[in-house]
Amino acid sequence: MELTADLEHEHVHKVYSQIATHFSDTRFKPWPRIAQFLNDQPVSSIIADVGCGNGKYLGVNQSTYCLGSDICPELISIANDRGHEVAVCDCLQLPYRTGMFDAVICIAVIHHLSTEERRLAALREMTRILRSGGHMLVYVWAMEQERKQFEAQDVMVPWHLQPKYAKGASQEKVSQKSTDNARMRERKRLKKKQKKQQKSQVSQASAVGHEDSTELNLTEDTSHTEYLLGDLSALNLSDEDLAIGPHKTIGEESHELHRTDVECSTEAIANNVDIAPYKGKITNSHELAQRNSPNDDCAANASNGLEKRGYQTFQRYYHVFQRGELVQLLSKCTDVVVIEEFYDHENWCVIGKKL
Ligand SMILES: C[S@@+](CC[C@H](N)C(=O)[O-])C[C@H]1O[C@@H](n2cnc3c(N)ncnc32)[C@H](O)[C@@H]1O
Repeated sequence: MELTADLEHEHVHKVYSQIATHFSDTRFKPWPRIAQFLNDQPVSSIIADVGCGNGKYLGVNQSTYCLGSDICPELISIANDRGHEVAVCDCLQLPYRTGMFDAVICIAVIHHLSTEERRLAALREMTRILRSGGHMLVYVWAMEQERKQFEAQDVMVPWHLQPKYAKGASQEKVSQKSTDNARMRERKRLKKKQKKQQKSQVSQASAVGHEDSTELNLTEDTSHTEYLLGDLSALNLSDEDLAIGPHKTIGEESHELHRTDVECSTEAIANNVDIAPYKGKITNSHELAQRNSPNDDCAANASNGLEKRGYQTFQRYYHVFQRGELVQLLSKCTDVVVIEEFYDHENWCVIGKKL
């Protein structure tokens, strides 16, 4: 299969449709820098979230009007059920008037487009809908990562679908799982609130100098727990969205994951090392795992183990971006200037401003 729209249809669109519920259950925590960008937008701004997935960013800034779009009907349906205003469409052809948005975000989407021409066309389409003076924020998965080494820029990344999410599996189980996740998040939220209240009582009763350290411990504890209970539970760790979270304590998880890799004992391993260069021919997950060095045996064993346990593996196509590549691409859109470039948790990111 060539690097074309057909490849994206087979290894992006169809895959997200099949994994939508599982994927959505692992995506609920907005990343701080993206939330910051959204919260920086003035009251009543109109914002587009292109490739919004389950809409986790659509409600971040309640004082703005945020419209989501995505090519995956199943994810859009989840976002719609949450009360968001969304549309199913391709990011190459957005159903919006020229210049109608004050800001645009596009998080972890254009790395799923398989040619430079298509990635540029998507950026041009986003700049088209942005008004003059408006800002856009784009994230793409980086080739330069501490925990992963890519043999090529065009790669297949596995998603291991838990059996309970498989088509034909009892829908009760899936919705039970979603309810359980929602309950767990609510419990964590209440616990966090309780801790904050306790902390505020402590700080009222103690000397001023103690306040900062109490705050630090509580915040880091909570984020640590959230990370472990939340995203990690999905175990599809090779995804860019599961890149290690924003807090300092997360460094411990990074170490933790690394240790698990070495032990070769869970599905996390397969997800971490089971990334294969795309060579124009689709192979099954086992072959993909075997093609990889340096953890070949480990990945193959892990993949086998998962298959035996009823997991289905889907391969998602990614073009991982090298340093500077996103800026270079955006600079081909003549009506935008890059005002910031940064690296955020395994992603290259740019903020552009429309002239
Ligand atoms: C990694 S997810 C990111 C979702 C969301 N932006 C987030 O940060 O949670 C990639 C998303 O891109 C969407 N996508 C892939 N190709 C697309 C296209 N050509 N047009 C619109 N959306 C696309 C997928 O359906 C999926 O929801």
